[in-house]
Amino acid sequence: MLGKILVHTLAVCVILNVDGGGYSDIEQAINSALEIVTIRRFASIPRPVIKDPANPVSLRGALARRRENPEIVAKYGLAADLVETATVLFAERHGGKLPNAEAFRAAIAPYCPTKIAKCENNCRYRSADGSCNNRIHPEWGTTFSPQTRFLPPDYGDQFDIGVVPRSTSVTGHKLPSPREISNSVHDAGMTAPRDHIYNINLMHFGLVIFHDVISTPLRQALARRRENPDIVAKYGLAADLVETATVLFAERPACFPFFTLPGEFSHTCRSFVRSEIAPSQGCLPGPSNQMNQKTSYLDLSLIYGNSIEGEQRFRQFGSEGEQRFRQFGPGHPDSFDATLNIFHVIFLRENNKILRDLKHLGWSGDSLFKETRNIMSAIYQHIVYTEYVPAVIGQDAMLRYGLKSTRYGHNTMYNPKSDATTSNVFATAAIRFAHSTFDTFEKDVIQGFSPETFQNYSNIVTNSPSSSTLFTRFQSKTDRFMTDFGRNKLWESEPKNSVDTMSFDIQRGRDHGLPSYNRWREYCGLKPILHFGKGIMGFADHTIGATKALSSVYRHPDDIDLISGAMTERPVSGGIVGPTFACLLGEQFALFKTGDRFFYENDFYPTGFTKGQLRQIKKQSLSSVMCRHVNIPAVPQNAFISPKAGEPLVPCMTFPKLDLREWALHGRD
Ligand code: HEM
Repeated sequence: MLGKILVHTLAVCVILNVDGGGYSDIEQAINSALEIVTIRRFASIPRPVIKDPANPVSLRGALARRRENPEIVAKYGLAADLVETATVLFAERHGGKLPNAEAFRAAIAPYCPTKIAKCENNCRYRSADGSCNNRIHPEWGTTFSPQTRFLPPDYGDQFDIGVVPRSTSVTGHKLPSPREISNSVHDAGMTAPRDHIYNINLMHFGLVIFHDVISTPLRQALARRRENPDIVAKYGLAADLVETATVLFAERPACFPFFTLPGEFSHTCRSFVRSEIAPSQGCLPGPSNQMNQKTSYLDLSLIYGNSIEGEQRFRQFGSEGEQRFRQFGPGHPDSFDATLNIFHVIFLRENNKILRDLKHLGWSGDSLFKETRNIMSAIYQHIVYTEYVPAVIGQDAMLRYGLKSTRYGHNTMYNPKSDATTSNVFATAAIRFAHSTFDTFEKDVIQGFSPETFQNYSNIVTNSPSSSTLFTRFQSKTDRFMTDFGRNKLWESEPKNSVDTMSFDIQRGRDHGLPSYNRWREYCGLKPILHFGKGIMGFADHTIGATKALSSVYRHPDDIDLISGAMTERPVSGGIVGPTFACLLGEQFALFKTGDRFFYENDFYPTGFTKGQLRQIKKQSLSSVMCRHVNIPAVPQNAFISPKAGEPLVPCMTFPKLDLREWALHGRD
């Protein structure tokens, strides 16, 4: 009861405090926000997200999105919530105006966690948390940063700040339920069409890239008093205050549920927790951006960790100073992703091989570990830009976005003005194109997986015939369709308690305030769709089936969610995604390249490689790496193309070895 009274009191305060528009108004807005946010968030103070030990791939574990550092996530989340709430309170009192940025920054400073990076001038190696990559903006691309925006957000609240997700049609009705869209547009039935070129390696490698550059934590669910007596005791909170928090939380929910049809799942109301947000550097007022708890750079941080502590945790210090990498498995924050283990095992073995070879050449101590990581990241970036991205977006887009690596030598494209921070649209829509590519192989791997059976996954990697499956088995076709498993059975912990990946993708886009599909078409220089027909200004990039499916569920073309609109496009020539995703992926991969001072092709001293070293790196391919660590006599020249599609099988012994003698010289030629 008391809780409700307090809520009311806060609401009254908001009205009473209205006056001018100066610094004191900003302070007042922040103070009111502080009161609201503290109560709303007190119970979400670090609660490590623990997977159900009996069921490591349980729904809860998987969707909780593991947090490497729950305390920092909570701290940044709280600050971002404060910014969001204060911005809205101020705007409400000042006819929609945002507070002056500098005054706001000064007033909020005591509550704003700032990142202060100490950058060394002549360091050859990237930092564990991504800091100092950009010398002018050392915080760009670091862990716990807000995701960037290519377009301003389109949230559901009147000021587009993010308090309410995008939920209303341009016609004024509610947007259709994501499940309705999933059923009408993305249902493949029991089997989705198969690709005729690309194998399941492509999907698995995409998974590596995703885990390298993005992990958006979810907001913490409100901890109830009974469940968390320790938190209540620690903060001396009275029972009625906890009730208050519950009411407040319910009024401005972090939950964004959606409806499913009766009988489809165990509940018709599907719970959905909104993503955590992060403040900008200096906590400037404005629309909310979601947090990324990984480094944005293509630096294999999924293996090496995203912080110095993370790095230490995964390093195994052997006798004689040899530092090897621990098996990916129990305890590793990414280990719920069973399929990810395949490449993790391969990279782990490659890491340890390079490390041993460098050691023979006289490397030792920290630089042995760091140079190994340097070489690994370079080979990985080379595979990303010469094999993965071209397969996905095709050669035309590779050229348009300046993504091609040169065959030989350096190719410095670095631009200190490029911010490589992973963008919201990349993480929440574009790279998720790959959700249409997983197939029943994933079902077997995911459902049979537990950290204890990790060794079996090492065996899948090592031993043919299992390993040859990675090359031969076609992935599911990149199209609008998702398998029955992905839409109806994923992480089914008990009958009908599962996840529809497609519904979650759609709802996540709305949660993050991604503008609708048409706005992205305009952004990419494509014509927006003005009617649900095929003629002029209609669906030029869609099949009749896709057009019909979209028009059956959306009221207006301007309502179409980006992921559904883009996944229904016909693929660009030579690629597997349509023109909208080719554009958005192209732009992001351009930023990952031009915004990374440590990009493998850069001719910089002391961070860059010598010509001789680069020659060795550029001889490598995913096939050559896999050959070294998978027990198989021959592999396709291009590791992503199935031999069943005519890709020639090449004996492993003919692939170039990684000759590290160039590293014995240490210097530059
Ligand atoms: C093994 C097959 C896969 C399964 C079962 C799977 C399933 C899921 C699910 C259920 C989510 C959470 C959706 C949400 O709440 O927003 C998700 C997120 C995501 N998935 Fe997948 N996925 C798979 C493979 C992939 C691949 C191959 C890629 C990219 C190449 C990818 C990219 C992403 C991204 C970027 C996110 C958002 C991550 C974040 O922001 O933290 N997924 N996936």
